[in-house]
Amino acid sequence: MIFRPGLEGVPVTQSAICDIDGLKGELTYRGYPLADLASNSNFLETAFLLIWGELPDPKQLREFEHQVQMHRRVSFRVRDMMKCFPASGHPMDALQSSAASLGLFYSRRAIDDPQYIYDAVVRLIAKIPTMVAAFQLIRKGQDPIQPKDNLAYSDNFLYMLTEREPDPLAARIFDRCLILHAEHSLNASTFSARVTASTLTDPYAVVASAVGTLAGPLHGGANEDVLAMLEEIGSPECAVPYLNKAIAEKRKIMGFGHREYRVKDPRASILQSLAEELFARFGKDEMYDVAKALEEAAEARLGPKGIYPNVDFYSGLVYRKLGIPRDLFTPVFAISRVAGWLAHWREQLGANRIFRPSQIYTGSKPRDWSNPESRTPSKEN
Ligand code: ACO
Repeated sequence: MIFRPGLEGVPVTQSAICDIDGLKGELTYRGYPLADLASNSNFLETAFLLIWGELPDPKQLREFEHQVQMHRRVSFRVRDMMKCFPASGHPMDALQSSAASLGLFYSRRAIDDPQYIYDAVVRLIAKIPTMVAAFQLIRKGQDPIQPKDNLAYSDNFLYMLTEREPDPLAARIFDRCLILHAEHSLNASTFSARVTASTLTDPYAVVASAVGTLAGPLHGGANEDVLAMLEEIGSPECAVPYLNKAIAEKRKIMGFGHREYRVKDPRASILQSLAEELFARFGKDEMYDVAKALEEAAEARLGPKGIYPNVDFYSGLVYRKLGIPRDLFTPVFAISRVAGWLAHWREQLGANRIFRPSQIYTGSKPRDWSNPESRTPSKEN
């Protein structure tokens, strides 16, 4: 048996959802180039494509948008539950708990019924942004505000979060960010979603397990750490010394590196251009020059190892300009990635076999139980 840490290079499923060419830096959703979707599609249309495999016709799109709009509200019980969460808690933990709680409210589990699947997809895509925005207001001591029916999906999220209707350019850029983050094949959180789905549990548990996995700093949580790192560097001329010191101390540069890519992540390139578009309109973030200096310095030192900026490197600068607090960067990632998780949930149900990998046992040989009095303290105690 060959053990591959982190399952590197081990196919664990067959999937028709997303394809990555890590050498060319190309990414497609259901065969459509990501750049094409990010320029021309919107998040709900892209989510439909990912989950059902084809772009919706106008009637399907109208119906999907309408259903999502109708289900944006969350029960006062969920809001009351969220009011009991500690305000100092991380919003990803709040989101994981709230997403899981939906299973209590929609407990019918009919995963072979297409209508049940459609309804669950609608509910999760509709309610997750509402729950993210609600926790933001609740932790500030305010009551969450209700979704506004005349606002499109992304405009409405920014409205619920900031309590003002967003500038149309800002809302469009945010929507494009959601498209960019919606799916990325068998990353850790999606694998987690598929493992959970394979037990035939409910979709709320599937999403909650994926949210918990996305939260880690080696995965979605890196976008928060990138801004902290840029601020620690402070100015463009400090980028080279910072990089040299980090490499000498074997510390990772946050927002760099990816198991799948040996070139710059195509999403990082698009996010960088979105950041520039925002800065041109609303003023530059001074950390942008630091980021560019770090990228340039890292190309010489890490490029030869195939380590380049990943999706998290520029997303924080975009989100900060949109007025999104730093610890909501990863929940915003989750708002988008729920589309990918649900696409994988459906695909897993279509050809399910429960995940149950094997292990290579490295523990003790069989031994006999002994009386406590006769035991000597083990080294770890
Ligand atoms: N900075 C410096 N060196 C790095 C970096 C980095 N960001 N990433 C990888 N390396 C080096 C490692 O030190 C290692 O070098 P070695 O072979 O000399 O020991 C080599 O590249 C391989 O690194 P691994 O950690 O084994 O690569 P893996 O594929 O397991 O990890 C990961 C990928 C987790 C993304 C990693 O690159 C990393 O930790 N990056 C920083 C965190 C980050 O940005 N995460 C977001 C990823 S995107 C996402 O999940 C949404």
